[in-house]
Amino acid sequence: MAIEIEQSSSVGLSKIAVSDTHGEDSPYFAGWKAYDENPYDELKNPNGVIQMGLAENQVSFDLLEDYLEKHSESSTLRPRSSGISSFRENALFQDYHGLLTFRKAMASFMERIRGGRAKFDPERVVLTAGATAANELLTFILADPGDALLVPTPYYPGFDRDLRWRTGVNIVPVHCDSSNNFQVTPKALEEAFDKATSMNVKVRGLLMTNPSNPLGASIQRSVLEEILDFVTRKNIHLVSDEIYSGSVFSSSEFISIAEILEARNCKDAERVHIVYSLSKDLGLPGFRIGTIYSYNDKVVTTARRMSSFSLISSQTQHLLSSMLLDTEFTDIYIKTNRERLRKRYEMIIGGLKKAGIECLKGNAGLFCWMNLSPLLKNNSTREGELELWDSFLHEVKLNISPGSSCHCSEPGWFRVCFANMSEQTLDIALNRISTFMEKRKN
Ligand SMILES: Cc1ncc(COP(=O)(O)O)c(C=O)c1O
Repeated sequence: MAIEIEQSSSVGLSKIAVSDTHGEDSPYFAGWKAYDENPYDELKNPNGVIQMGLAENQVSFDLLEDYLEKHSESSTLRPRSSGISSFRENALFQDYHGLLTFRKAMASFMERIRGGRAKFDPERVVLTAGATAANELLTFILADPGDALLVPTPYYPGFDRDLRWRTGVNIVPVHCDSSNNFQVTPKALEEAFDKATSMNVKVRGLLMTNPSNPLGASIQRSVLEEILDFVTRKNIHLVSDEIYSGSVFSSSEFISIAEILEARNCKDAERVHIVYSLSKDLGLPGFRIGTIYSYNDKVVTTARRMSSFSLISSQTQHLLSSMLLDTEFTDIYIKTNRERLRKRYEMIIGGLKKAGIECLKGNAGLFCWMNLSPLLKNNSTREGELELWDSFLHEVKLNISPGSSCHCSEPGWFRVCFANMSEQTLDIALNRISTFMEKRKN
C-alpha cells in the first residue's frame, strides 16, 4: 500500500469482514509469510527459507509447455473457418454453463485419471474458480448458518476458510489418530455426529478428502463403503474432495467414490458430490479451474446459478479444452506425472529415514506426513509442536506445516511438501534436516 491513508476506526465493517473464522492467522499461513520475507534462492539467497508448506506440483510443467507449444492453435486469436475471431468469441462468452467442449474435456480427464473405472456426464459438471470456490459453494447449498459439516482430521487448513468463514457453517472435527494410520472409522464418525447433535447442532454432511491432504494416502475401498453407509444411515450429504486423484502413484490404488456408487447402481447417489480441480494434477492453481460433479439434479442447477460468482475465464477454458480431450496426451501425462511424483516421494522418504525420521506410509499427494513426536520429549503438547515448528522455520530455515494447523489431535506430526521445488533444492532441504537431527542427538 504505497499511499498511506489515515484509517478511522469509527467506520464499521460487516460481521463477516471482522470475523476471524477465516483461520488465516494460523502457523500454516504465518510460515508462508516467513518464506515470502526471506525466500531461498540457490544463487541469490542460499541461506533463505525453503518453502515446504506449499502443495504445488511443478514436476511436469515441461510436458504441458511442450504440448501447448506444439498445438499453438488453442491459444491463437486468428479468425477460424467460421469467420468469427476466437478473440471475439471468448471476449463475449459469459454463460455460466461454461463452454460445452470444456465441460466434456473435464469429464473426459476425470475419467482418464480414474483409469476409465468411472463415468462422468458433462451435463453434471459445474465449473468453478478452483476447488476453493467449489467447496464453499457446496457448503452454501447443503447447509444453513449454524449447521455443521463433519470433517475427518487432520485436514487441509484452508477448509476453515472455505467451509466456515462466509457461510456461517461450523466444522465438527472427526478425530482420527495414528493407531490405524489416521483412517476414519465408523466409531469416530458416530462420536462426532452424536457430539454435534447433543449440542443441538444439525449435521448436514461429511466432507472427506481422497486421497487425503495432509496424509498423502488414498482411502481404502472398505472405508469408503463404511462412509457411504454412514451418510445414508444419517441421511446427510457426502462431499468427496478428490483434488489429488491424479497424484496417486499407481492408478489402481485410487478408488473414487464414483466407482463405489457405480458398483451400487448409483443407489443413494443424490447425496454425493465430488469436488475436483486442475490445481494439483496439472499444477495450475493460478488458472483457477475447478468443478463440482453432483449426482443431485437440484444441486447441479443451484451450483450452476451460484457459479456466477466464481467463473473460469472463457480464454482459459478455450486454451485447455483440446489438450484435455487429447487422450493420447493425457494418458502419457497422467502416467509420467505419477512416476515423477513417486520418485520424489521415495527421495524424501529415503532422506528423512536416513536422518532418523519416520513418515506415515503414503501412496499419493505432493507431501508426506512426518512424525517428529520423538523430538518433543517432555513437551508433547501443541505448544511443544509449535516450538519445534519455530525452530524449523528460523534455525533450519524450512517452512513445514505443523499438524495442529491441520487440527491433528496428536502433537508432533508435520506435513512436508516435495513437488514445488527442484530435486537439488529438495536435496538441500534434506541436508538441513539431517544436520538439525545430528545436532539434536548430540
Ligand atoms: C484438499 C484441498 N482442497 C482444495 C484445495 C484448494 O484448491 P484450488 O487451488 O483448486 O482452489 C486444496 C489446496 O491445497 C486442497 O489441498
